[in-house]
Amino acid sequence: MCGIIGYTGQMDALKVLLNGLEQLEYRGYDSAGVALLSSGHDRLLIKKAGPVATLKESCAELKVESHCGIGHTRWATHGGVNDINAHPHIAGRVTLIHNGIIENYHNLIERFGFQDSLVSETDTEVAARLFDYYYEGNPREAIKKTIRELTGAYAFCIMFEDIPDEIFCIRNVSPMVAAHIEGSSFVASDVTALIPYTNRYFVIPEYELVILKKDDIILEDLDGNRKEPEFLEVSWNLEAAKKNGFPHYMLKEIHEQPEALRNTILPRLENGLPDFTEDRIPDSLFSGCDKIAIVACGTAMYAGMVGKALMEPLLKIPVSVNIASEYRYESPLVDERTLVIVISQSGETIDTLAALRLSKELGAKVLSIVNVKGSTIARESDHVFYTHAGPEIAVASTKAYMVQLASLYLIACRMAMARGVYQETDAAAFVSRLLEAVPAVEKILAKKDRIKTAASILAKAQDAFFVGRGLDYAFSLEGSLKLKEISYIHAEAYAAGELKHGTIALIEKQTPVIAVATQDHIYGKTLSNVREVRARGAFVILITKKDAEVPEDICDIHFAIPASSDQFTVFPVAVILQLLAYYTSDMKGLNVDKPRNLAKSVTVE
Ligand code: G6P
Repeated sequence: MCGIIGYTGQMDALKVLLNGLEQLEYRGYDSAGVALLSSGHDRLLIKKAGPVATLKESCAELKVESHCGIGHTRWATHGGVNDINAHPHIAGRVTLIHNGIIENYHNLIERFGFQDSLVSETDTEVAARLFDYYYEGNPREAIKKTIRELTGAYAFCIMFEDIPDEIFCIRNVSPMVAAHIEGSSFVASDVTALIPYTNRYFVIPEYELVILKKDDIILEDLDGNRKEPEFLEVSWNLEAAKKNGFPHYMLKEIHEQPEALRNTILPRLENGLPDFTEDRIPDSLFSGCDKIAIVACGTAMYAGMVGKALMEPLLKIPVSVNIASEYRYESPLVDERTLVIVISQSGETIDTLAALRLSKELGAKVLSIVNVKGSTIARESDHVFYTHAGPEIAVASTKAYMVQLASLYLIACRMAMARGVYQETDAAAFVSRLLEAVPAVEKILAKKDRIKTAASILAKAQDAFFVGRGLDYAFSLEGSLKLKEISYIHAEAYAAGELKHGTIALIEKQTPVIAVATQDHIYGKTLSNVREVRARGAFVILITKKDAEVPEDICDIHFAIPASSDQFTVFPVAVILQLLAYYTSDMKGLNVDKPRNLAKSVTVE
């Protein structure tokens, strides 16, 4: 939610900022801007509504040699999408960019009498005014006094007009990382923007100040005591964050799924059994609980739905799946006997983070499944199970979902062992079936062109319905989210048996219904529901196992996944549903990787 970058050093600052903003654009793409402030030059500000490409065009003719600046790509919260509300914001001697929300900005406007001096509608400009109000030549003091007044989440990069070539950074909740190489210092919302220069970075601790200088990077507490940053290293390189010949990040990431699955599963196997010694996750975590609460948002929450459908019958303990933004306000029934599993690709989703904090307050142990190393959720959890998807850039999540599933499967298996539900032989059989998911996914990818025909039908539709029972219903939820978020087609998933209690009224001639029927014990029942919609004229796209008996007249398009046991069909089915959404969006000529109104990392409530 908003991407921020700051740079000071020997390189051309504008170039570094614009390149960084392109990498961070998935965090928001309503408007973008840069401000430059290095010695010997006047302060320069350029900001434009629209994507980073529009900003780049505006900067093309600029003949300026600058070595220090800040840049921002916005996902609008307070104030419409226009040039004025775009960041950076200037107030007197202060120029800043912000990711987050200042909740008490109205109150601050009144208390400090800013009404007449504000030019934008943003909460950020109020913060800029306040920094300027307190600035009397000592940036540390101004920052300390200002943040005492602020309520909300923020990551700020601030430049003071009389201190060129330096950037001051402070954060609360909203993410921000920093790095230094010889002659250059950087700050950014996430490490993707820094990868062209270094893979060594540190997460800026909350309420600590980072000062970027050309020859040094300083971390200190608010009393001015210098501290040693805790450096981390990213294991992936620049290539991983590029499209590598694919037309879109989403298609590339769909294709990276077999590798992501292998990277997540294989290092956790010891003699064919799940082993979390390296993750420092003890079996006592699994044996010492009597219920599980899964908490997440969006796609990660839908991965949790699959986790529940898998775990509850296997472990025979209650498993709830909770939307993080609701969980926070509904007095969850969680205590010290509850294992809370938090799932988050970014590790920064603010509602998920707040739910994690609440769970800990309630005495629960928190195990998080996270993709981004060192992220806030990872750092605050009792235990972390890192997924190894590599960077996911497309806003619509694909490979992160796939490895979140694999993680839940491994956790379920280890938990079954720890609780005596599985003997080693059962666990080994489970793992070998899980490993079969990798070639199953590869087989779907190899025949992906077949999915285009179905997508061409969907591309003409206004509405689409996904139906399934049991695990198939859990997969369908994610399938419908994928379609609606990138193709803007109204799509809903229903438990197939529930259709006749209302939703079937919406089925008309040619309404697309995507029926997922991969669960043997309820196959016949699902087919009956398919017949019900077909009888009312629906255009049916049916997904079954390869060896299923499919009556000839039951569907218009049939996709078969490789034969596998019921628990594991999600992996190939997910790829079919992802590709359906991808091709539909592409055929409609939409911006697949950056769908309207969305952002990948949601750091506002
Ligand atoms: C946003 C993204 C989704 C993601 C959700 C949760 O809505 O667009 O793709 O599933 O946030 O994000 P997280 O990083 O916590 O998994």
